[in-house]
Amino acid sequence: MRLYNVYFSAKGTTRLCADCIAEGLNLEKKDYDWLTASEPEKIAVSSEDALLFSMPVYGGYIPKLCAERAAALHGDHTPAIIAAVYGNRHYDNALLQMKDLLESQGFHVIAAGAFLAEHSIFPAVAEGRPDEKDLAVMREFAGKCEKLLKEKDLWMEKEIALSGNPDYDASVFKGVPFHPEGDKNCTGCGKCVQVCPVKAIARENPQKTDAARCISCGACIKVCPEKARDYRGEAYLTARKGFEEKCAAYRKPETFYIK
Ligand SMILES: Cc1cc2nc3c(=O)[nH]c(=O)nc-3n(C[C@H](O)[C@H](O)[C@H](O)COP(=O)(O)O)c2cc1C
Ligand code: SF4
Ligand code: SF4
Repeated sequence: MRLYNVYFSAKGTTRLCADCIAEGLNLEKKDYDWLTASEPEKIAVSSEDALLFSMPVYGGYIPKLCAERAAALHGDHTPAIIAAVYGNRHYDNALLQMKDLLESQGFHVIAAGAFLAEHSIFPAVAEGRPDEKDLAVMREFAGKCEKLLKEKDLWMEKEIALSGNPDYDASVFKGVPFHPEGDKNCTGCGKCVQVCPVKAIARENPQKTDAARCISCGACIKVCPEKARDYRGEAYLTARKGFEEKCAAYRKPETFYIK
C-alpha cells in the first residue's frame, strides 16, 4: 500500500501536520504539493493505496483553488484520511466539504482530524502551534488510521460522521480584506513572485499586490529573504487586536473515525 500525500501549505503548518501524520502511517509515500503545482496534475489512487488530504482552513472551508483542484483526484473506493488545519478560530464545515469533495471523486473517508496551527494572518493567535501536545495527538491519530487501513471489512459499507453543517455553502467565503505588501527592504529578488499561487505579484513591481487576485495565503511573507512583505495598515492592526482577543483560548484538536 502506498500513501498519496496531497497538501496545500502556504506558511508551512499544514505541511508540518501532513508530514507528522504521514510518518506515523508507516507507508511508502509520494508527495503532491499544491502550493507549487502549476497545473492540476491528475492523481489516480487505486483501492489498494491510500490518500492523505491535508488542507488549511480559509473562512471555514478549504481554499477555493484547492476545492477546484480536487477534481484532479480520482479514487476507486480508495480509503482517504483528511486533515483540516486551522488557526484557533474554528474549522466550521471544512471537514464536511473535504469529505464531500473526495467522496464525489471515488474516495472513502475513513478518518478525519481538525488540528491547530498558528494563524497565518494573525500569527500571535495560536503562536507556535502545532505544539508537542498537538504532535502527540497527530501521532496517535496516525496509529489508529494505520490500523483502520488494514481492516477494510470493518468500514467498507460505512460512512464517517463529522462535525459541521451539512447544508453548508462554501461560496459564502469571499476572502479577507488584508493583503501583504512589500516595503523598502525589497531587493526585487522575485521569490515572492514565483511562490504566489495566484500570480498576484508582478515581477516588475514586487512590492505591490493585486488585491483582486490575492487569497492572503502568506506564502510570499514566508519566502521573502528580506522580511520585506507583511500585512500593514490601520484596518489590519485593528482587526488583529480584536482577533487576538476573540481567539485567545487554547483549543484542542478533534479526531473522527469511521465506525
Ligand atoms: C484567508 C485565510 C482565512 C482563514 N480562515 C480561518 C478560519 O476560518 N478559521 C481559522 O481558525 N483559521 C483560519 N485561517 C488560519 C489558517 O487556517 C491557519 O493559519 C493555517 O495553519 C494555515 O496553514 P499554512 O500554515 O499551511 O498556510 C485563515 C487563514 C487565511 C490565510
Ligand atoms: S521576496 Fe521579498 S525581497 Fe524578494 S522581491 Fe519579494 S518582497 Fe522583494
Ligand atoms: S500575494 Fe497574496 S496570494 Fe500571493 S503569495 Fe502573497 S498572500 Fe498569497
